[in-house]
Amino acid sequence: MGFFGGPGSATAALLLAVVLCGLCCSRCWARSDAPRGVVLGFVFDPKATCEPPCQHAGVCIRNDTCLCSRGYEGDNCQYVNCYPKCKNGGVCLRPGKCRCPAGFGGRYCHKVTCDDGCWNGGECNAVNGVAKCICPSSWTGSKCQEAICPQGCRNGGLCMAPGICSCPEGWLGGACHIAECAQPCLNGGKCISPNKCRCRPPFLGPRCEERKRRF
Ligand SMILES: *[C@@H]1O[C@H](CO)[C@@H](O)[C@H](O)[C@H]1NC(C)=O
Repeated sequence: MGFFGGPGSATAALLLAVVLCGLCCSRCWARSDAPRGVVLGFVFDPKATCEPPCQHAGVCIRNDTCLCSRGYEGDNCQYVNCYPKCKNGGVCLRPGKCRCPAGFGGRYCHKVTCDDGCWNGGECNAVNGVAKCICPSSWTGSKCQEAICPQGCRNGGLCMAPGICSCPEGWLGGACHIAECAQPCLNGGKCISPNKCRCRPPFLGPRCEERKRRF
């Protein structure tokens, strides 16, 4: 009853063989190196001459007919070809080797490349055919090299990492907005810039430590 058992087995084996052979042959044909115009099973004339001669190890099989080696084509096998074809304006240098224009890379110039790469998790992408870093939300700049501090960095502070300011001496806080007074301001005075107090009347002095004399 089984397909591979009983009286039908010989037929089945034959069928299998035909199917396998068919697969094999279709693979062979699909991978054939035969260039256009030359049919496999050609008649090879050992006395054939090709002028100009076949290039790139092509074989002269009939008068003025070259059989090109893989990766070459043309009447004299003079042209190199790349499969898959070079994309994005790439030029085929030798079989399977493309020279890519700026901004593209990979074996077939199919990948977009950003010259110095993209930092901080940025992704290189083609924008209107130009390679560009697409930055994560907290970074900016051509390479995503600049952090964004949404709160701003005041008083000469520099944004070092997303939301993190590096503050100059004498300033503190997330946005470098808090002045630092080494000696605290007294009597309700307020530190308004490094080591500078704004005093509440009637106090004065560097630390608002003096009471204004009344005359
Ligand atoms: C090939 O070319 C040669 C020289 O031109 C000629 O003698 C020969 O007969 C040609 N062969 C064929 C099959 O045409």
